[in-house]
Amino acid sequence: MTEAEAAQELATLAVEIAQHDQAYHEHDAPLISDAEYDALRQRNAAIEAEFPYLIRPDSPSRRVGAAPGGGFAKVRHRVPMLSLDNAFAAADFTEFCARIRRFLHQPDDASLAFVAEPKIDGLSINLLFENGRLVRGATRGDGAEGEDVTANLRTMATVPDRLRGDAPALIEIRGEVFMTKADFLALNAAQVAAGQKVFANPRNAAAGSLRQLDPAITATRPLSLFAYALGDVQGSVPSTHSGYLDQLRAWGFEVNPLSRMLGGEAEAAAFQQETGLARAGLGYDIDGVVYKLNDLALQRRLGFVGRAPRWAIAWKFPAEQATTTLEDIRIQVGRTGALTPVAWLAAVNVGGVLVTRATLHNEDEIARKDVRVGDTVVLQRAGDVIPQIVHVMLDRRPLGSTPFVPPETCPACGSLALRAAGEVVRRCTGGLICPAQTVERLIHFVSRGAFDIDGLGEKSIQEFFDLGWLRGPADIFRLEQHRAELLTREGWKEKSVSNLMQAIETRRTVPLDRFIFALGIRRVGATNAKLLARHYTSYAAWHTQMLAATTVGSDERLALGSILGVGPSLADELTTFFVEPRNRAALDELAAFLTIQDAERPATADGALAGKNLVFTGTLETMSRPEAKARAEILGARVTDSVSKRTDLLILGADAGSKAKKAAELGVATVTEAEWREMAGF
Ligand code: IVH
Repeated sequence: MTEAEAAQELATLAVEIAQHDQAYHEHDAPLISDAEYDALRQRNAAIEAEFPYLIRPDSPSRRVGAAPGGGFAKVRHRVPMLSLDNAFAAADFTEFCARIRRFLHQPDDASLAFVAEPKIDGLSINLLFENGRLVRGATRGDGAEGEDVTANLRTMATVPDRLRGDAPALIEIRGEVFMTKADFLALNAAQVAAGQKVFANPRNAAAGSLRQLDPAITATRPLSLFAYALGDVQGSVPSTHSGYLDQLRAWGFEVNPLSRMLGGEAEAAAFQQETGLARAGLGYDIDGVVYKLNDLALQRRLGFVGRAPRWAIAWKFPAEQATTTLEDIRIQVGRTGALTPVAWLAAVNVGGVLVTRATLHNEDEIARKDVRVGDTVVLQRAGDVIPQIVHVMLDRRPLGSTPFVPPETCPACGSLALRAAGEVVRRCTGGLICPAQTVERLIHFVSRGAFDIDGLGEKSIQEFFDLGWLRGPADIFRLEQHRAELLTREGWKEKSVSNLMQAIETRRTVPLDRFIFALGIRRVGATNAKLLARHYTSYAAWHTQMLAATTVGSDERLALGSILGVGPSLADELTTFFVEPRNRAALDELAAFLTIQDAERPATADGALAGKNLVFTGTLETMSRPEAKARAEILGARVTDSVSKRTDLLILGADAGSKAKKAAELGVATVTEAEWREMAGF
């Protein structure tokens, strides 16, 4: 992977992960499974490990709410925890049975005995017992290695600390931790009352509750366990799975009461149907039935293929669906300025969970499904994915309905909301003034590579924001006004307050590149900020030229685009920022508090043009004047308009006039455009 590819992918991941964080934390509506989310974060971490200098200020790894489970010790399972192959129809199940017979060299009419168990939608765990005592409990993790959540599991009433009666010297007992639908709804109600985040579904609630770093919190969460599988064992166990389930009950575990031994494979379809009908009425979420060959000796012979056993299969139910009306499409603004349309629905029960919202992802998705306010829509809840709108019932569409029109302005701040070419997401351009983005922006503003204000961390920013003291970056330099009140607040003492004020005071003088970086303009990371600062050298120059660059086709716009390293998308982001009048106002307000230090030009002392005074004249044929000027400056030269004694070199374009004459009089060296190209390394 090249550096450019890494930077590009980190940028994409930052946006993508932020969207998922937002969907999960703010909208209570994850768009992808936890595993897919973890994979995104792992990918981000892997690239950052290889290119640490490319870590972005808005990197997911730098945000609070670290990767889930970062705080637990890792545990290797003695026997890997695998997954199951899926069946979706009777034919898949028949093929599964045929495969078993072929593998075991059994005749086509040999009968196979199965145990059928509801497939609980929770998270699987592994409990290691030594001499009948629970010594360790772990999550499944990636199957080979999970997280040590022993202390949390011990708080659960359904996890026995000791096996009742005789037990093998060592045994790994596996099962599913879950939360009942009723417990889930009660927990969410309590979370709302306490101002805490709500969970998307019982599965997320169970996972979140089990992975608390403080077991005292887990203890307050209503978690349950059904035991259903065996890992490693030293000692004897029954010879059938049904016998093993009986043994689990005898040891003190709960086994799903709907689990049943089937006489033969022909009974599976009926069990599947029966359980499917019972599903919505069950107290907990299930998403299918697991069929396990009853004979453990046969299970051993069959073994595994890939990550799944040959002796078991999960026959999934179709997703649970319901119809309801779409009452409104509202726009949510995320912390990074992304606008996400959300469907507001007439409340409807989908498989036992009351649903009032569904994500619409983005405007393309709305257009593709032609979703309109007033429509009757079919919703579906599948696995741990939040409700999706499957399709619109066109025959029920009310007369006079109109297609959804994406907003042109941000509903949170009124700034222009733009959708860049080639992107699906529409974004608010009110970077500095949008309340939905303020806290995140301010955190970036004071971060290490930016204003680097000691003592002004994420917590304080949130606190001051909630108090109404911080609305934009300029307010940081007005915090002094709140000194007296701050002293009365919990956690603030004379010393910490004066340290903070001192730290802010010190940062009133700031280098230009840090200032530019701090603004949090998309794609303007620390490196690009330096590039810009070196090119424009002073705040005044940068500011005037950015304003001028907002005019498409202007020289300044061309010059911006031809700074080495500034691509068209970066140029677009900068001009978009400057087009918004409120951003300009916020910038002026901020600059008034500051002394912004000029940047130094790069010391390219060895370059042929370093320190030289250049003048261009006539029409350049192979490049624009701004591009030529930008390149000269990158190479350390100064470009002026008129020829004087101090001019070192005059570049002659076509039809050069008076300047060429003057150069000849003063004895100033001249070169042709071709020679200039050579010198400048074009
Ligand atoms: S047996 C080697 N039984 O489904 C077989 N799994 O897709 C191990 N699950 O990770 C799994 N209910 O989280 C088994 N009665 C059940 C189950 C069950 C739910 C989950 C479990 C597993 C996943 C596999």
